[in-house]
Amino acid sequence: MPSQSETATPAPTARPDAAAPRSGWIPGTSAIRFGGDYNPEQWTRETWLEDIELMREAGVNLVSVGIFSWALLEPREGEYDFSFLDEILDLLAGAGIDVDLGTPTTVPPAWFWKAYPHAAPVTRDGVTLGFGSRGIVSPSSPEYRRAAEAIAERLAERYAHHPAVVMWHVHNEYGAPIAESFDEASVANFRTWLERRYGSIDALNRAWGTTFWGQVYRSWSEVDAPRRSQSITNPAHRLDFQRFSSDALLECFVLERDAIRRHATQPITTNFMATSCPAVDYWRWAPEVDLVSNDHYLTASRLDAHVLLAMDADFTRSLAGGKPWVLMEHSTSAVNWQPRNVAKRPGELARNSLAHLARGADGILYFQFRASRFGAEKFHSAMLPHAGTSSRVWREVVGLGDVLRSAEELRGSRVEASVAIVWSTESFWALDLDWRPSEDLSHRERLEAFYAALWERGVTVDFVHPSHDLSGYDVVFAPSLYLLDEPSAANLRGYVAGGGTLAVSYFSGIVDEHDAVPAGPFPGRLRDVLGLSIEEFLPLRDGEQVRLTDGSTGAVWSDDVVLEGAVAVSSYAEPAAGGGPAAGRPAITRNALGDGSAWYLSTRLDGADLGGFVDAVLADAGVAVDVPEAGLERVVRVGDDSTRWLVAINHADAPARVGAVAADGVDVASGARVAADDVVDAGAVRIIRLG
Ligand code: GAL
Repeated sequence: MPSQSETATPAPTARPDAAAPRSGWIPGTSAIRFGGDYNPEQWTRETWLEDIELMREAGVNLVSVGIFSWALLEPREGEYDFSFLDEILDLLAGAGIDVDLGTPTTVPPAWFWKAYPHAAPVTRDGVTLGFGSRGIVSPSSPEYRRAAEAIAERLAERYAHHPAVVMWHVHNEYGAPIAESFDEASVANFRTWLERRYGSIDALNRAWGTTFWGQVYRSWSEVDAPRRSQSITNPAHRLDFQRFSSDALLECFVLERDAIRRHATQPITTNFMATSCPAVDYWRWAPEVDLVSNDHYLTASRLDAHVLLAMDADFTRSLAGGKPWVLMEHSTSAVNWQPRNVAKRPGELARNSLAHLARGADGILYFQFRASRFGAEKFHSAMLPHAGTSSRVWREVVGLGDVLRSAEELRGSRVEASVAIVWSTESFWALDLDWRPSEDLSHRERLEAFYAALWERGVTVDFVHPSHDLSGYDVVFAPSLYLLDEPSAANLRGYVAGGGTLAVSYFSGIVDEHDAVPAGPFPGRLRDVLGLSIEEFLPLRDGEQVRLTDGSTGAVWSDDVVLEGAVAVSSYAEPAAGGGPAAGRPAITRNALGDGSAWYLSTRLDGADLGGFVDAVLADAGVAVDVPEAGLERVVRVGDDSTRWLVAINHADAPARVGAVAADGVDVASGARVAADDVVDAGAVRIIRLG
C-alpha cells in the first residue's frame, strides 16, 4: 500500500454553527438557496475570482464543489492534496457563498482503475467497461468501497468545520450512467443478498419458480447474476437482481454518509433523478438522506416537457415526505446529450425554476455555474454561458436571483394535495421485463397520461407507494400497478373500505412480488377490491381502436370482465359499433366497498376521454376542481402559520387570468394587490400571497 501523506495547508477554522442539528434544512441563511455546480478545477485562480464576483452579482448563495475532483484530491493512492479545495473554499467563505461539498466518488482516478482492474463494471452482455468517461466502478467492489469511504472520510475530517460548508453531496447521481454490474464481486454480493432475503436455497427455488424450465438450484454457489441468456431469463431472478443492484448502490451511499457523519453535522444528501433513473428505487433511498435533492432536465423533444417537469417535482416532494427539497441540478437552457438540444425560449428559465419552487423546492441550483470549455459537456448551457454576461441567459439568471430574494417568505412552506398517484418502482421493473401480453403496455406512458389529465385540471398530486398510509387522500389513482404484494393489496383494500376512492387502470394487481400469478382469476389481489374478475386479457392490435358505449375510444387493451359486485359505468359497444374483442362486456366499472369506491378502467383512454374518466372519479370523491385557464399552472404553498401563496406560471402565448383563488392577494414581488381578473402575462410567473 502506498504511504499516507498530505501535502496540503492546515485545515481552516471552525464555522460558528458547527454544532447545528445534523438533519433537516441547510444551516445558514433563511433565503431560498440559489446556485449550481461549480467545477473550479477547470479554471485558473484568476477565473475563480471573477466567478465569485459574478456569483455575488447573481445572488448565488450555494455552490456544489468537488464532485469530479478525486484525481486531484488523491493524486496517488493514500496521498492527498487538498490545496485547491482549501483555497477555493476559503475564497467562497470570504465572499459569503456557501458550499455543498461533494464527495468525488463517481469518478475513481486512473490509478484506481490500473490498480484494481477487477473493479471495472461488467454489463449484462459481458462487456467490461473501461476508464475515460465517468460513472462508478462496480458498486460491490471491496476496493472501490474502501477507497470511496476513505476519501469521504478525509474530506469530512478536513472540512467538517469549514465556514463555507453547509451541506454534503455524496457521489453524483447514483445509478447513472449504469446501475448494475455483472462482475465477480457483484455476483458474490448478490448471493449474500439472496441468502439474507430467502434464508434457504429451497425458499429461493420456490420464490423464483425454478421448476419452470428446469432451473432448480442445489447450492448458493450455482446462482449467477441474470446474464444475457439464450432466451428470456427467469423474470423473478431478474427482478431480484434489480432490487439487489439498487441496494448495492445504496450501501455505497450509506458507507460514505456514515464516514462523513463521524466528523460532520451538516445535512448529507445525494442527488436523485426522481423520474429519470428507473434503476434506483428511491422509496428505499429517501429515508437514508438528511434532505432530498434532485436533478431534472427537460425532455426537449416533448412539447409537454413542463408537465413532465411538474411530475418530477411532485414525485421528488413525495420522496421528501412533503418537506422542502433542493433542486440540485437543472439547466439554464439547452443540454448537450439529447438528440436535438433545444435552447430554452425567453422566460422559460424562470418558468422552469419557479415550477420546481411551486412544488416544494427551497433550493434552485443548476448544472453548472460556468460553461466548460473542454471535455464532454462544452455544449451544455450554464448560468454563465460562453457568451458571457452580455447574454440573455445571464440576464435571466440574475433576474431569477432577484425573484428568489423577493420570495424568501415562502421558505419552509409546504404543498398540499388531496389526490395521489401510486408509484411503485418494483412494479415498473417487473412490467418492463420481457414477454408481457402486449408490448404496448407501458407504465410510464400511463403515469404520464393520468398525471397530465390532473395537471390540466389544476389538481396537485402527491405520489405514494402502495404500502403508504393513504387515508389523507380523497382519491388515489393506480395506473398500471402490475405487481402488488399482499400487504400493499391489503392497504389499498383498507383505504377503500375506509372511505377512499381508488381508480385502477388495466393490467394491475396481476402478479405478486416474485412476478408470479396468485391463484385464481385476474386481477389477483384486487379482485375483491374492484368487485370483478377478468376471464381473459384481450389486448388490441397495433393501432386498433375500440368504442365504448359512453362515446369514448379505447386502444391497446381490453379485458373480458366478469362483474362480481361492481357495476358497469360504461361498456364496450356491440361488435357492429366497433366494440372490438370485448364487445358488450364492461369497460369501466365502479365497486362500492365499505365506505369508499374502487373504479376500474380496462382500456387505454387518451385526451378528453381520459379526462372524462378522471372527472368522474374526482366527482365521485367530491373533489372540487377549479380548472385554470389553458396553459396556466397554479400551485399553492402553505406556511406553518397557514399563510398561503399561489405560484402561477403561464406557459401559454396569451395572458391568463389568475382566477378567484387569488382574489384579495398581494403580489410578492411588487406588493400590489391582486384581483381575480388580474392576469399573468404570456410566459410570465407571479407569486401571490393569498388573502
Ligand atoms: C447530470 C450530471 C451533471 C451533468 C448534467 C448535464 O446528469 O449530474 O454532472 O453531466 O447531467 O446535463
